[in-house]
Amino acid sequence: MAIILDGRKVARDIESEIAEEVKKITDKGNRPPHLVAVLVGEDGASKTYVSGKMKACDVVGYKSSLIRYDETITEEELLNKVDDLNEDKGVDGYIVQLPLPEHISVEKVIDRIYPSKDVDGFTPANFGKIDQEHHSLLPATPMGVIELLNRYDIETKGKHCVVVGKSHIVGMPMGILLAGPGDATVTICHIHTQNLEEHTRKADILVVAVGKPGLIIGDMVKEGVVVVDVGTTRVPDATKKKGFALKGDVEFATVEPKASYITPVPGGVGPMTIASLIMNTMIAYKKAMVLE
Ligand code: GUN
Repeated sequence: MAIILDGRKVARDIESEIAEEVKKITDKGNRPPHLVAVLVGEDGASKTYVSGKMKACDVVGYKSSLIRYDETITEEELLNKVDDLNEDKGVDGYIVQLPLPEHISVEKVIDRIYPSKDVDGFTPANFGKIDQEHHSLLPATPMGVIELLNRYDIETKGKHCVVVGKSHIVGMPMGILLAGPGDATVTICHIHTQNLEEHTRKADILVVAVGKPGLIIGDMVKEGVVVVDVGTTRVPDATKKKGFALKGDVEFATVEPKASYITPVPGGVGPMTIASLIMNTMIAYKKAMVLE
């Protein structure tokens, strides 16, 4: 039976640590860190994620602001808002929740964010420093995965890590973090990978970030594997109050018996992404306020 990598608990621990730090800061008369989230449109999952991020700010004592736009907002209007947030000295970090409507270029928006305020770690400047000793703000989800492994004393050095998915926000930075600072041997698999199971079966640590429920089944992993499931797809479920259940990319029932450690969905990686955002906001705040 696998040990559950309890992201919810670890995130709570991190938030308690940050809350203490915020208290010390504000006790000295400084303002608290301020995180802003920009949400465009009515996507249900995005609304849930952003609300989780805002709640975490309350828990740790940050100021938080949510800026909402109708999905008809133009690219120029959104870019102007990004410019405003870049210049606003009262804002330490901000995120533009993805996905954006099709008429807005995600690349243009991300490129416009000041790296010093990019607490998602999406900008080219922050991405380019992932494997540097003096990295800046790391991409939030991969950073959360590494933190979760660290807190369970799971060593990556010398291990064979297989990452499934090559997105800009999870798969690619995850691979760089594991191979760079993590000293692991890394295979990155994706939609064009042939014989996926031949790769996944070799994994000591398997990170799956695809968004296809049940993609990885028990037969595709070896005994003792550490499994990190980043997938969170809403699947219709009449037995749930909200009418849907969150499903990971890993078929828990067949993979868990073979794994040594495994993340649940929900309650695994999701809370760790939020915890990373909170940690990154503290880093951005300290740099801006020259507290370190
Ligand atoms: N959409 C899905 N995950 C994320 C995330 O970590 N940050 C942002 N900004 N959008 C997302």
